[in-house]
Amino acid sequence: MLLEVRDLHVEFRTRDGIAKAVNGVSYGVDAGRTLAVLGESGSGKSVTAQTVMGILDVPPGRITGGEVLFEGRDLLKLKEEERRTVRGAEMAMIFQDALSSLNPVLTVGDQLAEMFTVHRGMSRRDARARAVELMDRVRIPGARERVKQYPHQFSGGMRQRIMIAMAMALEPKLIIADEPTTALDVTVQAQVMDLLADLQREYDMGLILITHDLGVVADVADEIAVMYAGRIVETAPVHEIYKAPAHPYTRGLLDSIPRLDQKGRELYAIKGLPPSLTAIPPGCAFHPRCPLARDVCRTDEPPLYQVGDTRGSACHFWRECLHD
Ligand SMILES: Nc1ncnc2c1ncn2[C@@H]1O[C@H](COP(=O)(O)OP(=O)(O)O)[C@@H](O)[C@H]1O
Ligand code: SF4
Ligand SMILES: [Mg+2]
Repeated sequence: MLLEVRDLHVEFRTRDGIAKAVNGVSYGVDAGRTLAVLGESGSGKSVTAQTVMGILDVPPGRITGGEVLFEGRDLLKLKEEERRTVRGAEMAMIFQDALSSLNPVLTVGDQLAEMFTVHRGMSRRDARARAVELMDRVRIPGARERVKQYPHQFSGGMRQRIMIAMAMALEPKLIIADEPTTALDVTVQAQVMDLLADLQREYDMGLILITHDLGVVADVADEIAVMYAGRIVETAPVHEIYKAPAHPYTRGLLDSIPRLDQKGRELYAIKGLPPSLTAIPPGCAFHPRCPLARDVCRTDEPPLYQVGDTRGSACHFWRECLHD
């Protein structure tokens, strides 16, 4: 496995007490594969990713347990200096908001070129040529001219391509894309997602794609991990989860996707809100919102039950959900 997160725990000290943002998350991705991490806002998707990348703010964050194995080596045990070498060269991250991740006073060409001068010791001239190549590769029309422009001169979709180019520059083995298309309109979303999927295949990278939108992952992901209140509640190959979810929360997410073939149908919404992470409900954290909940759910926390050979569900009643 290229990346394997094992039983990760991350907390934040807040005014209301300890917020358990990540509560025993385990997931993994192989080279050439895409793992989609799905869940409502506040479920711990980004904090898990930041911990993997080594960019978690400590404090207020605190890693209280677990391992992040990258090619078998636990990144949590590395010194910050070693960590920095891994970041960028071996793994890179793409964020939702390109405008705040790019430097507004440098041309995009200079920012791309800097990857090569700083990390690869290239001459400025060679680095500039590579910057144009990269912009071509992420399909920015007129790269030779546009390399001299500043981030604000690009549309949202084009800026996201520049972020992808920056992440790809050193040909990392793993890319984590945290809601890379959330800020874009639907057509541009699809184009950026296609680009990311093409590059991932071409370079045989592992890709972790974080999103709150099940609709965007169907065509690009191999596996899905669904998060709720800092835990993984379901993991499965993507086609299986679409066929039949084994967790009521996943079912709720699936039922809330707008579908072209059911125009006019009222969209389902999961009732209620995710819990505060300083006061996660006992038993199954989803029980206050779950249509299948019964007494045992309020007292006994479900483990991640093995469902067949390839799936897991943290629901006492996964059978019922699966065959419903
Ligand atoms: N810098 C921070 N300070 C305090 N709490 C934080 C911080 N970052 C994240 N958290 C807590 O962790 C929870 C999960 O956040 P996050 O991983 O960003 O969720 P998401 O699934 O939307 O990416 C938040 O709801 C919040 O309680
Ligand atoms: S364990 Fe109970 S409350 Fe939790 S998802 Fe399953 S049925 Fe719902
Ligand atoms: Mg997030």
